[in-house]
Amino acid sequence: MARVTIDGHTIEVPDGTTIVEAARKIGGDIVPPTMCYYSTLKTSGGYCRTCLVKVTKGSDKDPRPMPKLVVGCRQTVMDGMEVQNITSPEVLEAREGVVEFLLLNHPLDCPVCDQAGECDLQDLSYGHGDEGTRTEFRRRTFPMRNIGDKIKLHMNRCIMCYRCVKVAEQLCPERVHGVLNRGWDAEISTYIEKAIDNEWSGNMIDVCPVGALTDKTFRFKSRVWFTKPLDAHRDCDVCCGRVALWVSGDAVLRVTGRKGVYHEIENTEDGKPGWICNTCRFEKKNLSDWVIEGPRHIDRHSVISQNHYEQLKQLKQDLSRQKLIGEKAHNN
Ligand code: SF4
Ligand code: FES
Repeated sequence: MARVTIDGHTIEVPDGTTIVEAARKIGGDIVPPTMCYYSTLKTSGGYCRTCLVKVTKGSDKDPRPMPKLVVGCRQTVMDGMEVQNITSPEVLEAREGVVEFLLLNHPLDCPVCDQAGECDLQDLSYGHGDEGTRTEFRRRTFPMRNIGDKIKLHMNRCIMCYRCVKVAEQLCPERVHGVLNRGWDAEISTYIEKAIDNEWSGNMIDVCPVGALTDKTFRFKSRVWFTKPLDAHRDCDVCCGRVALWVSGDAVLRVTGRKGVYHEIENTEDGKPGWICNTCRFEKKNLSDWVIEGPRHIDRHSVISQNHYEQLKQLKQDLSRQKLIGEKAHNN
């Protein structure tokens, strides 16, 4: 075991744990944001630099600080290590720079983007970015590529996090897409125009932190904060069959995997992977296809959790209390 202190909070974690995973065990504001790391995808992380932290003490054996900021999702902890995240002005300044770089080529089309309200980049830029932009240059653009009838690729929005490539490598029976070219010209593509069409490919949509990969069966049907997320399940031969339904009235507008506090697909209670198959995601769009468990709690600090219908009960209580107070004031 190794004892690590992050922003003044100390925890013991197994050797080999990364700084980000140790911080997640503590929880709260001290957890570094992550745009490319995804705990259930092997070799993810190390691409975006949003998780930069400062190691002020390397370990009990060698207490020297690390000379540069380190990538928290890849750096493993050492016994006695001391780390600063939000308590370091240097880290906050560096993160602001990273956000600026991520937004350099990202279109500011949140008002028309289907990912708005559940976009990690939107949250990151509100939390760690600057108010204005200094960019004067034309943003990078790509021709639209058709990658199939279920998934929409909007390459201009891609931040090259590689998560979708890891899904294709680790979940899909064959990988038909990847990153082509390098640097300015790097893009997600299928190389020869080919549809991405296999039972697990829809999970690429769930891991994409921005609106580069979206569900064609849901696009422009509703803003996500107007829908009601429900936990539901069905017997499925292929996947765990455990999903979140995004409904409006009786209509199931979208089916996704269940995401937890770090916006990653949660494993099931018995430890099975929470990835869902394309049949559950795209074909089961009737409420009668599902056993409804109840309203889904949204942990994210996203707009979806604002005035969420899950709190309607609370709202009613508040309203009746306000009414009571109003009546009392009137009688006096
Ligand atoms: S398409 Fe999305 S998931 Fe894939 S690399 Fe781009 S941002 Fe990441
Ligand atoms: S989350 Fe660590 S580098 Fe992207």
